[in-house]
Amino acid sequence: MKVLVIGGTGHIGSYLVPRLVLRGYEVQVLARNPRPRYGGADTEALWSRVEWIVADRIMEEKNGLWGKRMAAVDADVVIDLICYTPEQNRMIVESLEGRVSHFIHCGTIWAYGPSTRVPYREDYPRKPVTEYGILKARIEADLLEKYIRNGFPATVVHPGHISGRKWLPIDPQGTRNGVDVYRRLAHGDVVCLPDTGLATLHHVHADDVAQIFELAILNRKTALGESFSAAAPYALTLAYCCEFVASLFGSKPNLRFVPLQKMVEVLSEDAFAIMRDHVIHSPCVSIEKAQRLLGYRPRYTTEEIYRECIEYLLESGQLVV
Ligand SMILES: NC(=O)c1ccc[n+]([C@@H]2O[C@H](COP(=O)([O-])OP(=O)(O)OC[C@H]3O[C@@H](n4cnc5c(N)ncnc54)[C@H](OP(=O)(O)O)[C@@H]3O)[C@@H](O)[C@H]2O)c1
Repeated sequence: MKVLVIGGTGHIGSYLVPRLVLRGYEVQVLARNPRPRYGGADTEALWSRVEWIVADRIMEEKNGLWGKRMAAVDADVVIDLICYTPEQNRMIVESLEGRVSHFIHCGTIWAYGPSTRVPYREDYPRKPVTEYGILKARIEADLLEKYIRNGFPATVVHPGHISGRKWLPIDPQGTRNGVDVYRRLAHGDVVCLPDTGLATLHHVHADDVAQIFELAILNRKTALGESFSAAAPYALTLAYCCEFVASLFGSKPNLRFVPLQKMVEVLSEDAFAIMRDHVIHSPCVSIEKAQRLLGYRPRYTTEEIYRECIEYLLESGQLVV
């Protein structure tokens, strides 16, 4: 079987492509640079079996070449990891319609919107509040409608906050701010958390996201016309993330609680914007559907994700405590 992975060299692709090659599929990967961002010696032989398609999607969408390229695709399954607008999605669907047996789009839990009833199940109403989430929710709706109306063989996978060994997770403050918060937690220095510290994060390891894409292919009939959340077994509060990370260093967190809007005085503007986005969403999603229908068995909890990343930060000398 032939599988094309569009944008297959990033966080997800670095884990997904080796899995697909190991399955014995003929794998094509489309990216601007023909090498995985997080490859290592252990997967080098698998990557050497990939057929590369070096192209710039955005450029080709603008100059009209993308539709022709997609119309010439010779694959049974197409996985689109880098589609962000309904227009991009419409273009690719038009080119692939009637020619592929499975099309899997990568969405996001931001398409769900801020948490209401938790854990959030895939059939609850979508109430996205960011432009990114709104556009991804529209893409999902278009694909599922296309499946119902025309039998277009679509599946949508919505990952939580993706992380990997070399890709720092959203940190225990709910942002991305280098290694500072890890150093503070290790030393028992003050860490400021927004409001009561009870906002939640729902991480997922990139290898578990890859697992769901692989399972969707293996369970094609069940997966057609369906959306699946790809997340760790449970969400965690910021306060508990701090407690856990501190415990890795034999320390206890020294937390100070600050109203969310005042966190702008504690963090850089960029870090605050990321924190605000995560606090407002406070995601907590159910993975029961993927477990039941696809046999999804996540290998990583958020604790294991933090443990792996911190191990890498220490090994690589990025974090010195
Ligand atoms: N990051 C998160 O926490 C998160 C959470 C939920 C959902 N998602 C979803 O995950 C998907 C992204 O997956 P990812 O995190 O694996 O992405 P990523 O790490 O940013 O990797 C993007 C991949 O696409 C390629 N690429 C980027 N621009 C391209 C272009 N113009 N033409 C061709 N190739 C291009 C990159 O390689 P080159 O640079 O060599 O081209 C790379 O292979 C998105 O759909 C996003 O909505 C992400």
